[in-house]
Order: sequence, then structure tokens, then C-alpha cells
Amino acid sequence: MEYKSTSVIILAIESSCDETAAAVLKDGKILANCIATQEIHKKYGGVIPELASRDHQKNILPVVNEALVESDISLSSVSAIAFTQGPGLLGALMVGSAFAKSLSWALNVPLLGVNHLEAHIAAHFIPKHKPEFPFLCLLVSGGHTQIVLVRSPLQMEIIGQTIDDAAGEAFDKIAKLLGLEYPGGPMVDKLAKLGNPLSFTFPEPKPLGLNYSFSGIKTSVLYFLQKQNQLNNNFISENINDLCASVQNTIVQYLIKVLTKASHENGVKNIAIAGGVSANSELRKQLQTKAIEQNWQLFIPAFEYCTDNAAMIATAGYYQFLEGKTTGLESVPYARGL
Ligand code: KG4
Ligand code: ZN
Repeated sequence: MEYKSTSVIILAIESSCDETAAAVLKDGKILANCIATQEIHKKYGGVIPELASRDHQKNILPVVNEALVESDISLSSVSAIAFTQGPGLLGALMVGSAFAKSLSWALNVPLLGVNHLEAHIAAHFIPKHKPEFPFLCLLVSGGHTQIVLVRSPLQMEIIGQTIDDAAGEAFDKIAKLLGLEYPGGPMVDKLAKLGNPLSFTFPEPKPLGLNYSFSGIKTSVLYFLQKQNQLNNNFISENINDLCASVQNTIVQYLIKVLTKASHENGVKNIAIAGGVSANSELRKQLQTKAIEQNWQLFIPAFEYCTDNAAMIATAGYYQFLEGKTTGLESVPYARGL
């Protein structure tokens, strides 16, 4: 079945890190959201950029094809091609960018270069129940931690951000210290459910306005583990659940504390979270309690839209398309920045 040309149909590609993803959106609605997760990085304990690029090269055509088949959309009815232009791993971004450019050129349809971080926030425009503007979004991913004041789908202002590690990076680095597989965040979340969050206390970083700092938490966990290991070789394995629960609780409480400050300072009570760490069950739970206490309207994305996906790229691209914000074929991917 072909859709009428009056519909806006976006084919979107995400390839910024270790997920090759493609999605199809029609008039704001997601018809397909396909993803190929690269398992190869697990054995190295982190993403190896060169291997990520090669896997994207291998996966991109099957994943795009899967999205087209699942949505029952033919290439000839696509209105525009959206792709992640940055930030991310350059080699990985280049695979998606070259593929998107070729499609845009061959089909003679506009190209939409999407910012990956804005797209994480745009995941909130997918469901029927969307946040009202303005809203504050705590964007917590593997590479970024930001508090963003969102005034419209295309007007976003960073009002606070980490000065060193990202929250996801803190989860992953601490998980590595605990001997857990990459990516450590989901594993810490899982084990923490069996542990006591008050077993161990780690110092919370000093206030930095609306900014965050996570490197101190990581270092204090490192020193604590070194000390305990000298006393008991099996300290980590004997206390893994309590360690995960305590570390997670420290990170979550700190994230919420600064977010609450941002809400007070800006007089905004529409609060959203986005990015991979927004899948964290303790963060979601504690935010729900906080929302009742603070009278917030809270928006938490569905799990499938928290971690990297192409539905969010399609949605961000859709709003750019409506505003006529297209990208030239001479565009290049960027590794950093909003
Ligand atoms: O947004 P994302 O998928 O990729 C980036 O754009 O970075 O975020 C990945 C990050 C990783 O650090 C991963 O450990 C973390 O999100 N993450 C979690 C959970 N699920 C993913 N961290 C804590 N708890 C989780 N359940
Ligand atoms: Zn991401």
C-alpha cells in the first residue's frame, strides 16, 4: 500500500554510537522503529569506535529495509531523510550520514541533519500525552548530562550540565570497577533491586549552580573499594547488590536535587527526563515521589525511547521538516556539541 503524497513521511537513521537504528514516521506517528544492537563491544568493556563503524556498515541496509517493510512504506513515498549528524563517534556518524545523503540525493528529497541530544528530548513528542511548553528536561545519556529548558520543539536552552563525566559514564565506569559487563548502567540497576541503598554512603558533590560533577563519586567509590579489598579480597562479590544500590541511590538523589533547584529557579513545573539513564528504575521511582511532593507534571519516556533509537531522530526531523530546516548535501557530521 502506498500513502498519499500529502502525508509527511520521514525515514530516519541513527548511528551515533553502538546502535544501528532506522524508523519510519508518518504525520508525526511512528510506524516502525527498528534497531540492531552491537554486541561485539561487550568483550572489550566499552565501545570500540572502529568496530562500531564497521558494524554500522554491515547493519545499516538490513535495518533500513526492515523499517520500510514493517511500516509498509516504499522508498518512493518518503518525503525526507533524517539522520543523526552529531554528537557521537565520528566514524559511526559518517556511515549513517553517507547513507542518508545518498538516499536523499537518489530520491531527490530533503535531508534533515538531526542533533542526537535534541532528538532524545524529542522522544517526548512521540506519545499523545506531550509535555506542555516550557518544560525542563533532564537529559542523562552515556556521554551527556544536561538540564535543558525546552520552549518549543526547536527552541532548547541548556541551563545546566556536567563539568566532567556524564551520569551514564559514571554508572558505566563504576560498574567496571565492580567487575560488571559493559554497558554497566542496566546491570547496576538490576542488581540494585536486590540491595540496600543505605548500606554504604558516598559523598555527594558540592553544589555547582545548576551544573553537575560526577568524577568525584567515581573516585570515592574507587578509593573505598581499594581500601575494602585490602581487608577482604571478596568484598565486592559479597556486597555487590548493596554496592550497586548505594551507588545508584547517590547518583539518583544528586540528579534529582539539582533538577529540583532548576525547577525552583525557573518556575517550571513541567519536568521530563530523557536519554539512556532515564531507563533507570530508581530514577523513575524517586522522580515520581518527588513529582507528588513538588506538584510537578512528570513525563517519563517509554523504555524503547530512552536509549538510542531512530524514532526520536524521525520525530526531531519531522519538526525540522515542518519548519523548513533542511540540511545541505555538503554537511559533515560533528563529534561534539549541541
Ligand atoms: O542515550 P544512550 O542510549 O546513549 C548515548 O547517547 O550515550 O545512553 C547510554 C547510557 C549508558 O551509559 C548506559 O549505561 C545508560 O545509558 N543506561 C542506564 C540504564 N540503561 C541505560 N543507566 C542506568 N540504569 C539503566 N537502567
Ligand atoms: Zn543517546
